[in-house]
Amino acid sequence: MASRGQVSAGVITCGYHGLGFNETGQCIANPHGAVPRVARVERLAAVERHGILWVWLGTAETAQCSLIPDLSFLARGTPLTMRAGYMHTRANYQLCVDNILDLSHADFLHPASLGGGAATRARCKVTKTETGLNLSWDMKNEVPLPVIGCEYPGYERLDLWIDVIWTPPGIMYLEAGGGPPGTAAINTFNVHIMMPEGAAATHYFYCNVRNFRVDDADFHEHVSEMLRDAFESEDKPMLEAQQLRIGDRDVDQLKPMLLGSDAGPVAARRMLVARIAEEQANQSVQ
Ligand SMILES: [Fe+2]
Repeated sequence: MASRGQVSAGVITCGYHGLGFNETGQCIANPHGAVPRVARVERLAAVERHGILWVWLGTAETAQCSLIPDLSFLARGTPLTMRAGYMHTRANYQLCVDNILDLSHADFLHPASLGGGAATRARCKVTKTETGLNLSWDMKNEVPLPVIGCEYPGYERLDLWIDVIWTPPGIMYLEAGGGPPGTAAINTFNVHIMMPEGAAATHYFYCNVRNFRVDDADFHEHVSEMLRDAFESEDKPMLEAQQLRIGDRDVDQLKPMLLGSDAGPVAARRMLVARIAEEQANQSVQ
């Protein structure tokens, strides 16, 4: 159980019986006797970028760092502008992806923080890219989302926007901002990362950075708690309830009724099906 071990000077030592393995996975130390040559652990390619450890689950020789999305905004965050969070969610990762690719849900699930009706009234523009999808909600002269509107007390209408870049299978970079027409607007930079854990659970990571009130500790706490509450007390229970209802059935086989706001999730699911089929075909010819 090297995964329960400790790393020191490039050697990972098994936490159970003390065998040591080098960076190639080869066993190089055995406190119980001769080093067994056949003892190896699987080696996966990994690289650290944007403060995140990226692991390539295919063969190390085929690893492509160029597929890592640009999350350089994370380096611009400061203790008073950035907050990261994690929630273990008992729902399939695609349900979690659907959640971010259809932000109209915020109008109903997060009325006190991220909703206001604008995302439902706006038509989401979905664009296919070489790597995934871009989605954008352009909301002119709209009711402010509370998280943006709190910066503009007294304004009943603002110009708002949300742009999402989806990198399959489960990484979403979001910019969301707004302001009175014709003025310098405020912006937020966000990432949501869905890492599957089996068919019905997801390691859900998120991080938010803002470019306004950058020295205001009280405001930072207020906004961070508002977002944490939206994700952990509203999204997570809804996603888990959805999974409970679906059980171990395949969503597509349930023939779900589609709404206009499902354009993003549907495009993403179709792209994933095609990518998975392509990957499996490539594996079968190797
Ligand atoms: Fe949400």
